[in-house]
Amino acid sequence: MSRLVLVWIVASSMIPSCDSELTDGVVWQRGEIVDVTLKAEKAVELTNVQMPAACALHCAATTGCSFFFHSQVNAICRICNQAKCDWPNSVLVSQTASQYTFYRRKLWKSCPVDHTYNSTANTCLRYDITHDAGYWWYNARRRCLLGGGHLVLIRSDQKYEALKAFLNETLTSLQSQGEDITAAAFNRPWLGGRRSTIVTDQWLWDDGSLADHDLVGKWDVQQGEPQGGGAQDKLTLSATQGYLFHNDNSQMYRHFVCEIDVAL
Ligand SMILES: *[C@@H]1O[C@H](CO)[C@@H](O)[C@H](O)[C@H]1NC(C)=O
Ligand SMILES: *[C@@H]1O[C@H](CO)[C@@H](O)[C@H](O)[C@H]1NC(C)=O
Repeated sequence: MSRLVLVWIVASSMIPSCDSELTDGVVWQRGEIVDVTLKAEKAVELTNVQMPAACALHCAATTGCSFFFHSQVNAICRICNQAKCDWPNSVLVSQTASQYTFYRRKLWKSCPVDHTYNSTANTCLRYDITHDAGYWWYNARRRCLLGGGHLVLIRSDQKYEALKAFLNETLTSLQSQGEDITAAAFNRPWLGGRRSTIVTDQWLWDDGSLADHDLVGKWDVQQGEPQGGGAQDKLTLSATQGYLFHNDNSQMYRHFVCEIDVAL
């Protein structure tokens, strides 16, 4: 074995790749390289942490920690949780001392208490109404990511049925608390689906997988869905229209459904 190969093996075992299992069955996904200089005051900073795996252990042991930043250069570990730490808004291209690798918790060991688990569909869902007016699609997506999940993906009929049952129960309960669930923010929550910017009229789930097949027969065709026009490029469904799919402009303010992937 050449020295070059040896160096490569050592280096690659030090740096976990995507989906690596760093600690105790919790799967972490390596994200972008980001500049966290501006965010420093919001995170808990630990020094002398040489390895991402050690940083992951700190995060796993911290309540509410669903992502962390690690700098191999400075041996600094920044532990974040939803309340304290913001999502990075800049992705670096050049190497600097403030370069951190971002990791998020990909697979959870159980469904968090503020989510609802459906064992038939093995899905863990949360309907987010934290902001009265709702959020536009990109912020809804960001908020799900901050919670360690993603906007719900509906890649099977089973998931669709689980989502419908979940929304029916949630909206019925909100209605009994006096909410007007026919208001657009409640009635047409954001999902993790969008129109392809490359292939005309192709729909994708937000993990990049094709959605067209999953949507067959589920569009609200009576209301003319999906509507043409590039601006209506995000996926929602209408509770009052039998939970059929609609496409909407991402700048509409809506509540949304987050999903957490559980390893059960
Ligand atoms: C769970 O999901 C299944 C479909 O996979 C659905 O039929 C069922 O109603 C859901 N259960 C609850 C309690 O929401
Ligand atoms: C929930 O389901 C019941 C029974 O199918 C239906 O009558 C009701 O309108 C639904 N409510 C919502 C908010 O989806």
